[in-house]
Amino acid sequence: MKNSPFIYGTTVINDAFINRKDEIRKLSDNLTGGINTALISPRRWGKSSLVEKTVAKIGKNNKKIRIAVIDLFTVSSEEQFMEKFARELIKASSSKWQEWARNARTFFKMLLPKIQIGIDPVNDFSISFNWEDIKKNEDEILDLAETIAKQKKIKMIVCIDEFQNIANFNNFESFEKKLRAIWQRQQDVTYCIYGSRRHMMKDIFNNPSKPFYRFGDIVLLQKIARDEWIRFISRSFTRTDKQITNDDAALITDLMQCHSWYVQQLAHYTWNLTTDRATKDIIKKALSELINANTPFYQKETETLSTTQLNLLIAVLNGESRLTSVSAMTTYRLGTPRNASKNKTILMNNDIIQEKKEGFEFVDPAFELWFRHTFLNQPIHKYFED
Ligand SMILES: Nc1ncnc2c1ncn2[C@@H]1O[C@H](COP(=O)(O)OP(=O)(O)OP(=O)(O)O)[C@@H](O)[C@H]1O
Ligand SMILES: [Mg+2]
Repeated sequence: MKNSPFIYGTTVINDAFINRKDEIRKLSDNLTGGINTALISPRRWGKSSLVEKTVAKIGKNNKKIRIAVIDLFTVSSEEQFMEKFARELIKASSSKWQEWARNARTFFKMLLPKIQIGIDPVNDFSISFNWEDIKKNEDEILDLAETIAKQKKIKMIVCIDEFQNIANFNNFESFEKKLRAIWQRQQDVTYCIYGSRRHMMKDIFNNPSKPFYRFGDIVLLQKIARDEWIRFISRSFTRTDKQITNDDAALITDLMQCHSWYVQQLAHYTWNLTTDRATKDIIKKALSELINANTPFYQKETETLSTTQLNLLIAVLNGESRLTSVSAMTTYRLGTPRNASKNKTILMNNDIIQEKKEGFEFVDPAFELWFRHTFLNQPIHKYFED
């Protein structure tokens, strides 16, 4: 049996990647042209995939550019940041692991890195420092990419995923200032910074009172176009000896509102249930599977919300655009005006709702279906009826 052509849950760069041609060109021009870039979008729209795809291309075409991709997902302190940052930059400094330890010693003047290389050098390469030493010589690590670039006569591109995590470090504000001050002076290093907490990322890069204001170009990643999804779904079915009509491929795309992760997930479940030809009934079943699979996350998410916040979500689903109007507040029991307006901000900052042309909408299309079903008793499949 063939493997599913649809992939979700990891970054995609090969067959399952829909060519974001314009975005790749723009990001690639920025990063090879020395323009620092912050890439922002809601969760799971495809930031990490886009960056990986773009830097893989850059790396292939430019032997004089070295690239480090650093994911701060599990990093929660300055110390962890420093070690991970140093390790990934040293790994990027040479394609030969035999050179890493030797290189590492030449890159530092004051710091003495402790290096360990395990049986699988590429994955078991660790570097650590005495924390007291780091505190005194932080600049050496923060300037490491520039040091490497100068010594090796190359350029470096440093990509940092889930960057907003630095906001959780103790002394975050002084740390942020230090990063910015050092990185700004560097001539041979370009940064690509991205993260999934839209509100926090915007606050870091778009706030005139913050150090990273005007650090570089801010790119707000958009969804992949509907037509591209339809073509991709049809092509992927055909490639694996199954069939789907354009209408049904469009149905999958529209149900998931062109959301990258969910379109892939719904297409995968549909593909899996299809023997040779997809039907509306199969898509219906696939949608139930998708909602069931995600229900634990949605339950967890709603458990953290207060009653007035839940009521506010119900108001949004009913198309209420003036959430702090007197009529909305009484109809939906939104609490006091202050309460309602605070809740609106919280839900927006947490990327649960966002503003649209008139009024508000859910950010997550499948969560919306689940929420309608759970709180308004609307059938999940009501979109199949006409
Ligand atoms: N260009 C693309 N073509 C097709 N599918 C994509 C593309 N980009 C992303 N996806 C789908 O979306 C999923 C999420 O992508 P990715 O992890 O790159 O997003 P992200 O914005 O970095 O997410 P997070 O906010 O969780 O960090 C992928 O697993 C894949 O299913
Ligand atoms: Mg990501």
